[in-house]
Amino acid sequence: MEIPLYLVNEHFDDRYFDVVNALDEAQQVFFKNNYLIERITSAIASNVPLRIGETGFGAGRSVVSLMEYIKKSGLSNISIEYYTVELYPLTPERMQLILSGFKDRVGEEIDVLVEAYKSIDTNIPGWHTMNIRQSFGTIRLSLWIGEALEMVEALELPCDVWFLDGHGPKKNPSMWRPELLMAVGKKTRAGGSCATFTVAGEVRRALMEAGFTINRLPGCNGKKMVLQGIKIN
Ligand SMILES: C[S@@+](CC[C@H](N)C(=O)[O-])C[C@H]1O[C@@H](n2cnc3c(N)ncnc32)[C@H](O)[C@@H]1O
Repeated sequence: MEIPLYLVNEHFDDRYFDVVNALDEAQQVFFKNNYLIERITSAIASNVPLRIGETGFGAGRSVVSLMEYIKKSGLSNISIEYYTVELYPLTPERMQLILSGFKDRVGEEIDVLVEAYKSIDTNIPGWHTMNIRQSFGTIRLSLWIGEALEMVEALELPCDVWFLDGHGPKKNPSMWRPELLMAVGKKTRAGGSCATFTVAGEVRRALMEAGFTINRLPGCNGKKMVLQGIKIN
Protein backbone atom coordinates (compact mmCIF):
# COMPACT_ATOMS: atom_id res chain seq x y z
CA MET A 1 0.00 0.00 0.00
CA GLU A 2 1.32 3.45 -0.97
CA ILE A 3 1.64 5.58 2.21
CA PRO A 4 0.48 9.19 1.76
CA LEU A 5 3.36 11.61 2.33
CA TYR A 6 1.54 13.53 5.08
CA LEU A 7 1.69 10.41 7.30
CA VAL A 8 5.49 10.36 7.15
CA ASN A 9 7.59 12.49 9.50
CA GLU A 10 9.99 14.08 7.01
CA HIS A 11 12.62 14.64 9.71
CA PHE A 12 12.99 10.89 10.32
CA ASP A 13 11.63 9.32 7.13
CA ASP A 14 9.24 7.30 9.28
CA ARG A 15 5.46 7.13 9.75
CA TYR A 16 3.94 8.76 12.82
CA PHE A 17 2.18 5.45 13.52
CA ASP A 18 0.69 2.43 11.83
CA VAL A 19 -1.99 3.71 9.49
CA VAL A 20 -4.60 1.05 10.11
CA ASN A 21 -4.17 -0.14 13.70
CA ALA A 22 -2.78 2.88 15.52
CA LEU A 23 -5.59 3.25 18.07
CA ASP A 24 -5.59 -0.43 19.04
CA GLU A 25 -1.79 -0.47 19.04
CA ALA A 26 -1.65 2.39 21.57
CA GLN A 27 -4.27 0.66 23.71
CA GLN A 28 -2.34 -2.63 23.82
CA VAL A 29 1.26 -1.44 23.91
CA PHE A 30 0.96 1.72 26.00
CA PHE A 31 -2.25 1.38 28.04
CA LYS A 32 -2.79 -2.32 28.78
CA ASN A 33 0.91 -3.05 29.15
CA ASN A 34 1.20 -0.16 31.63
CA TYR A 35 -1.86 -1.45 33.62
CA LEU A 36 -3.51 1.90 32.99
CA ILE A 37 -7.05 1.07 34.13
CA GLU A 38 -5.77 -0.38 37.42
CA ARG A 39 -3.54 2.68 37.93
CA ILE A 40 -6.35 5.12 37.12
CA THR A 41 -8.71 3.27 39.48
CA SER A 42 -6.23 3.49 42.31
CA ALA A 43 -5.50 7.19 41.58
CA ILE A 44 -9.25 7.95 41.76
CA ALA A 45 -9.48 6.08 45.08
CA SER A 46 -6.52 8.07 46.46
CA ASN A 47 -7.84 11.32 45.00
CA VAL A 48 -4.57 12.09 43.22
CA PRO A 49 -3.92 12.68 39.51
CA LEU A 50 -2.30 9.93 37.46
CA ARG A 51 0.87 11.28 35.87
CA ILE A 52 1.67 10.04 32.36
CA GLY A 53 4.85 10.92 30.48
CA GLU A 54 5.33 10.45 26.74
CA THR A 55 8.39 10.83 24.55
CA GLY A 56 7.03 11.84 21.16
CA PHE A 57 3.73 13.74 20.85
CA GLY A 58 3.59 13.68 17.04
CA ALA A 59 -0.02 13.94 15.90
CA GLY A 60 -1.43 13.16 19.34
CA ARG A 61 -2.75 9.73 18.36
CA SER A 62 -1.98 8.42 21.89
CA VAL A 63 -4.06 11.19 23.48
CA VAL A 64 -7.01 10.54 21.16
CA SER A 65 -6.76 6.81 21.78
CA LEU A 66 -6.51 7.43 25.54
CA MET A 67 -9.72 9.47 25.52
CA GLU A 68 -11.53 6.64 23.74
CA TYR A 69 -10.04 4.01 26.05
CA ILE A 70 -10.98 5.66 29.30
CA LYS A 71 -14.44 6.65 28.03
CA LYS A 72 -15.07 2.97 27.30
CA SER A 73 -13.89 1.99 30.80
CA GLY A 74 -16.92 3.71 32.34
CA LEU A 75 -14.70 5.26 35.05
CA SER A 76 -15.40 8.83 36.13
CA ASN A 77 -13.76 11.55 38.23
CA ILE A 78 -10.53 10.83 36.39
CA SER A 79 -7.69 13.31 36.67
CA ILE A 80 -4.73 12.76 34.37
CA GLU A 81 -1.65 14.93 34.05
CA TYR A 82 -0.13 14.10 30.67
CA TYR A 83 3.39 15.37 29.92
CA THR A 84 4.67 15.06 26.38
CA VAL A 85 7.24 16.57 24.04
CA GLU A 86 7.68 17.51 20.42
CA LEU A 87 10.79 18.83 18.67
CA TYR A 88 9.07 19.37 15.31
CA PRO A 89 5.49 20.48 16.04
CA LEU A 90 2.90 19.90 13.34
CA THR A 91 0.41 22.51 12.23
CA PRO A 92 -3.14 21.84 13.51
CA GLU A 93 -4.19 21.25 9.89
CA ARG A 94 -1.59 18.55 9.36
CA MET A 95 -2.44 16.98 12.72
CA GLN A 96 -6.11 16.82 11.71
CA LEU A 97 -5.18 15.32 8.34
CA ILE A 98 -2.95 12.66 9.90
CA LEU A 99 -5.69 11.69 12.36
CA SER A 100 -8.49 11.85 9.79
CA GLY A 101 -8.24 8.14 9.00
CA PHE A 102 -9.77 7.48 12.44
CA LYS A 103 -12.57 10.04 12.32
CA ASP A 104 -15.38 7.49 12.00
CA ARG A 105 -14.27 5.89 15.25
CA VAL A 106 -13.01 8.84 17.31
CA GLY A 107 -14.13 11.96 15.41
CA GLU A 108 -15.25 13.77 18.57
CA GLU A 109 -11.95 13.09 20.37
CA ILE A 110 -9.93 14.29 17.36
CA ASP A 111 -11.92 17.56 17.26
CA VAL A 112 -11.39 18.10 20.99
CA LEU A 113 -7.63 17.58 20.70
CA VAL A 114 -7.20 19.70 17.57
CA GLU A 115 -9.21 22.56 19.12
CA ALA A 116 -7.04 22.45 22.25
CA TYR A 117 -3.86 22.35 20.13
CA LYS A 118 -5.00 25.39 18.14
CA SER A 119 -5.03 27.39 21.38
CA ILE A 120 -1.25 27.15 21.91
CA ASP A 121 1.62 28.81 20.06
CA THR A 122 4.03 26.05 19.10
CA ASN A 123 6.62 28.63 17.97
CA ILE A 124 7.38 29.27 21.63
CA PRO A 125 9.66 26.67 23.25
CA GLY A 126 8.88 25.11 26.63
CA TRP A 127 5.61 24.06 28.32
CA HIS A 128 2.15 24.66 26.84
CA THR A 129 -0.80 23.44 28.86
CA MET A 130 -4.25 22.47 27.54
CA ASN A 131 -7.09 21.42 29.82
CA ILE A 132 -9.23 18.78 28.15
CA ARG A 133 -12.49 18.36 30.06
CA GLN A 134 -14.58 15.30 29.21
CA SER A 135 -17.44 13.33 30.79
CA PHE A 136 -14.89 11.02 32.47
CA GLY A 137 -12.90 13.88 34.05
CA THR A 138 -9.92 15.97 32.97
CA ILE A 139 -6.72 15.46 31.05
CA ARG A 140 -4.27 18.28 31.72
CA LEU A 141 -2.09 18.01 28.63
CA SER A 142 1.31 19.67 29.01
CA LEU A 143 3.31 19.72 25.79
CA TRP A 144 6.96 20.73 25.86
CA ILE A 145 8.12 22.21 22.57
CA GLY A 146 11.77 21.27 22.33
CA GLU A 147 14.09 18.36 22.96
CA ALA A 148 12.98 15.27 24.91
CA LEU A 149 15.78 15.36 27.50
CA GLU A 150 14.96 18.99 28.34
CA MET A 151 11.33 18.03 28.90
CA VAL A 152 12.14 15.07 31.15
CA GLU A 153 14.55 17.22 33.18
CA ALA A 154 11.92 19.97 33.46
CA LEU A 155 9.41 17.63 35.16
CA GLU A 156 9.02 18.63 38.78
CA LEU A 157 7.54 15.29 39.90
CA PRO A 158 8.09 11.73 38.64
CA CYS A 159 5.49 10.09 36.39
CA ASP A 160 3.54 6.90 37.13
CA VAL A 161 3.82 5.62 33.57
CA TRP A 162 5.70 6.40 30.38
CA PHE A 163 4.82 5.84 26.73
CA LEU A 164 8.12 5.66 24.82
CA ASP A 165 7.12 6.46 21.24
CA GLY A 166 9.93 8.25 19.43
CA HIS A 167 10.15 6.44 16.06
CA GLY A 168 12.23 3.27 15.83
CA PRO A 169 15.76 3.36 17.28
CA LYS A 170 17.29 2.85 13.82
CA LYS A 171 15.44 5.85 12.37
CA ASN A 172 15.84 8.04 15.45
CA PRO A 173 18.55 6.91 17.89
CA SER A 174 18.33 10.25 19.76
CA MET A 175 15.02 9.22 21.39
CA TRP A 176 16.59 6.02 22.73
CA ARG A 177 19.97 7.31 23.89
CA PRO A 178 21.02 5.98 27.32
CA GLU A 179 21.24 9.53 28.76
CA LEU A 180 17.56 10.16 27.93
CA LEU A 181 16.33 6.76 29.14
CA MET A 182 18.33 7.25 32.36
CA ALA A 183 16.53 10.57 32.88
CA VAL A 184 13.18 8.82 32.24
CA GLY A 185 14.11 6.25 34.91
CA LYS A 186 14.86 9.05 37.40
CA LYS A 187 11.49 10.63 36.61
CA THR A 188 9.49 7.42 37.23
CA ARG A 189 8.11 6.71 40.67
CA ALA A 190 8.93 3.39 42.37
CA GLY A 191 6.44 0.80 41.11
CA GLY A 192 5.76 2.92 38.02
CA SER A 193 6.22 1.55 34.52
CA CYS A 194 7.18 2.30 30.94
CA ALA A 195 6.17 0.63 27.70
CA THR A 196 7.43 0.68 24.14
CA PHE A 197 6.90 -1.15 20.85
CA THR A 198 10.63 -1.60 20.27
CA VAL A 199 12.43 -4.72 21.48
CA ALA A 200 15.89 -3.56 20.41
CA GLY A 201 18.62 -4.94 22.67
CA GLU A 202 20.24 -1.54 23.23
CA VAL A 203 16.91 -0.06 24.39
CA ARG A 204 16.29 -3.01 26.72
CA ARG A 205 19.77 -2.66 28.24
CA ALA A 206 19.51 1.13 28.63
CA LEU A 207 16.14 0.75 30.38
CA MET A 208 17.64 -1.85 32.75
CA GLU A 209 20.51 0.56 33.49
CA ALA A 210 17.87 3.20 34.20
CA GLY A 211 16.35 1.04 36.96
CA PHE A 212 13.60 -0.87 35.15
CA THR A 213 12.93 -4.60 35.32
CA ILE A 214 12.10 -5.56 31.75
CA ASN A 215 9.28 -7.88 30.69
CA ARG A 216 8.08 -8.95 27.27
CA LEU A 217 4.32 -8.51 26.93
CA PRO A 218 1.90 -9.00 24.03
CA GLY A 219 2.21 -6.54 21.15
CA CYS A 220 -0.18 -5.72 18.36
CA ASN A 221 -0.28 -5.52 14.61
CA GLY A 222 2.03 -8.40 13.73
CA LYS A 223 4.44 -7.59 16.55
CA LYS A 224 4.05 -10.52 18.94
CA MET A 225 6.00 -9.16 21.88
CA VAL A 226 6.93 -5.65 23.02
CA LEU A 227 8.73 -4.27 26.07
CA GLN A 228 7.42 -3.18 29.43
CA GLY A 229 9.59 -1.94 32.27
CA ILE A 230 8.70 -1.78 35.97
CA LYS A 231 10.69 0.71 38.04
CA ILE A 232 12.06 -1.17 41.00
CA ASN A 233 12.68 1.67 43.45
C1 LIG B 1 6.46 8.11 16.43
S1 LIG B 1 6.16 9.82 16.57
C2 LIG B 1 5.04 9.94 17.91
C3 LIG B 1 3.67 9.47 17.63
C4 LIG B 1 2.73 10.00 18.68
N1 LIG B 1 2.96 9.43 20.00
C5 LIG B 1 1.32 9.80 18.26
O1 LIG B 1 0.64 9.01 18.92
O2 LIG B 1 0.86 10.49 17.34
C6 LIG B 1 7.62 10.44 17.42
C7 LIG B 1 7.63 11.93 17.58
O3 LIG B 1 8.78 12.30 18.34
C8 LIG B 1 9.32 13.50 17.79
N2 LIG B 1 10.74 13.55 18.16
C9 LIG B 1 11.74 12.86 17.59
N3 LIG B 1 12.92 13.09 18.20
C10 LIG B 1 12.65 13.95 19.21
C11 LIG B 1 13.44 14.55 20.22
N4 LIG B 1 14.76 14.30 20.32
N5 LIG B 1 12.82 15.36 21.11
C12 LIG B 1 11.49 15.59 21.02
N6 LIG B 1 10.68 15.05 20.08
C13 LIG B 1 11.25 14.24 19.18
C14 LIG B 1 9.08 13.35 16.31
O4 LIG B 1 9.11 14.59 15.62
C15 LIG B 1 7.71 12.67 16.27
O5 LIG B 1 6.67 13.59 16.16
